[in-house]
Amino acid sequence: MNHASTPPSVNAVDAVKAVDAAPLLEHYHHDPHALVQILREYQALQGWLPRSALEDIARGLRLTLAHVEGVAGFYRFLHTENVGEYRILFSDNITDRMLGSEALMADLCQRLHVVPGKMRADGRVSVDTTSCTGLCDQGPALLINHQHVVTQLSPTRVEHLAALIEQRVPPQQWPTQWSAVDESIRLADVKLGEQPVPGQALAVVRARGPLAMLEEIKRSKLRGRGGAGYATGTKWQLCRNAVGQAHYVVCNADEGEPGTFKDRVLLSRCADAVIEGMTIAAMIVGAKQGLIYLRGEYRFLLDHLESVLRSRREKGLLGPEFDIVIHLGAGAYVCGEESALIESLEGQRGVPRIRPPFPVECGYLGQPTTVNNVETFCAVTHIALHGAAWWSSIGTAQSTGTKIHSVSGDCERPGMYEYPFGTRIGRILEDCGARDTQAVQVGGPSGVCLSASEFGRRIGFEDVPTAGAFMVFDRSRDMFEVARNFAHFFAHESCGFCTPCRVGNELVVRRLDKLSRGHGSTRDIDELRELDKLMHGATHCGLGAAACNPLRDTIAKFRPAYEKHLHSLHFVPGFDLDAELSQARLVTARDDDGAHLETML
Ligand SMILES: Cc1cc2nc3c(=O)[nH]c(=O)nc-3n(C[C@H](O)[C@H](O)[C@H](O)COP(=O)(O)O)c2cc1C
Ligand code: SF4
Repeated sequence: MNHASTPPSVNAVDAVKAVDAAPLLEHYHHDPHALVQILREYQALQGWLPRSALEDIARGLRLTLAHVEGVAGFYRFLHTENVGEYRILFSDNITDRMLGSEALMADLCQRLHVVPGKMRADGRVSVDTTSCTGLCDQGPALLINHQHVVTQLSPTRVEHLAALIEQRVPPQQWPTQWSAVDESIRLADVKLGEQPVPGQALAVVRARGPLAMLEEIKRSKLRGRGGAGYATGTKWQLCRNAVGQAHYVVCNADEGEPGTFKDRVLLSRCADAVIEGMTIAAMIVGAKQGLIYLRGEYRFLLDHLESVLRSRREKGLLGPEFDIVIHLGAGAYVCGEESALIESLEGQRGVPRIRPPFPVECGYLGQPTTVNNVETFCAVTHIALHGAAWWSSIGTAQSTGTKIHSVSGDCERPGMYEYPFGTRIGRILEDCGARDTQAVQVGGPSGVCLSASEFGRRIGFEDVPTAGAFMVFDRSRDMFEVARNFAHFFAHESCGFCTPCRVGNELVVRRLDKLSRGHGSTRDIDELRELDKLMHGATHCGLGAAACNPLRDTIAKFRPAYEKHLHSLHFVPGFDLDAELSQARLVTARDDDGAHLETML
């Protein structure tokens, strides 16, 4: 269908200020801390954030327009320019690419006559990429209007989708099986297995008392499942001891690490156990208020989570003593970092704070706050039910209990696998049906890349720690391209606060792109190594510190993948100066030796 013939949409006719911000401001009691939620909800109604709306919101919250614009400009899912009636974002993780996302996106753009990243002239549609949407087990995937997902994309699905957009069929009326998100639990152990009866663990803790439960958590040697592996009992003790007017419990459900989707499944399948764990934490640290920070990409889980909260309130398991609100993120990976997450909860840009003080002393609204991963809270519920001795008998000495892995990439059975800590990498590969495996990226781009000689290594804080991603690459994959995809991810997600991360990531991307274009030399690889050294330890938060991990691992373990891209062993410039002068030669009608540059060094 020719888009030029279709009438302009409501959005395209610049329906500026069609929506009144007043009811939203009322709903949030004109609280400036709710800024991100207000912007997100306004945008859900209007499609984007016109300047006049930002002015109304600034006035209503008694903030400056500059502040509101600064916050709106920070988050990738907030738009201060019209992005069309249908905002399509293709998930751009390496696993989506391996499943053909680039060709599918090109096909959709061609069918809709859209240039990627630009809104179509009639205001109907825009198509772009976004970082991993957490649907790697059922990719390639895309997001529409930050609300609806389409999984398992295929050429037929794309063709059908383009037609529905041209016919202006709302995404809510698209075939329901398109947005089906399977839980794909392949191997369940403690947490993914049979679910505890809601309230049962809470009753045990009430009978035992919060201090005794804290001791039980310490004895269990539970370590946080968000990546760093900090001892949960110690964190809760510090939070409990910290002086403040109020204490807070925050569930980190940002899950932005590419290749990780375990929290998505825990929230859809085991939400009661997660919320019960938060409630136990509240009893221990003395909190009346809990917050779940749910990543914007998981907007489709919101109704389910709200209904679990409602049902727990009806059962008296949540209420005046302790209650929970859900805050939706707006597309910023750095907000998974706990202090950036707190900034975001407070309605600010998600820039990590200077620490100390740590959140346990000075967190949400300046008060003692414990931030824990979804899986950590889930584990607490099981420890309350079965005891510390039982939990610490599973796993290894320093890594007790089980760990859930989100398996994707080159394997027959992607999905969720729960194992005791100490499980061999090779065992997981066997179970998921991986063949001819060249490498495994454990813990996402911030984690570690393992080659075949290391498949005997074990998951655990003593050996291979992980936040939950397990991406498999067979021998047909180019590990240089894997590292380049990750480098683009970090450059895209850097918050820009500190120079080593902001500039360093950009320089890494430029060098890798230069290698990819065939202009590389061994000197470029040396420069990449230097950049890694410079960035490591010099950045303000963990994002910058981990950004070069994939680069370092792949250069060390898959050097031939880089050498394939080398043009010369010597330095080669990133662009051809002589070719750049061709226009000047044309204009001056010269093509003699003096009009050419010798560029090879
Ligand atoms: C850039 C960055 C992103 C992070 N993303 C997440 C995340 O999505 N989920 C999470 O639980 N922890 C994430 N973390 C770790 C958190 O800062 C924090 O350590 C964790 O939520 C603590 O919970 P735990 O003690 O239960 O592991 C991230 C850290 C960094 C540096
Ligand atoms: S390291 Fe990167 S993400 Fe972290 S504060 Fe610095 S610029 Fe921001």
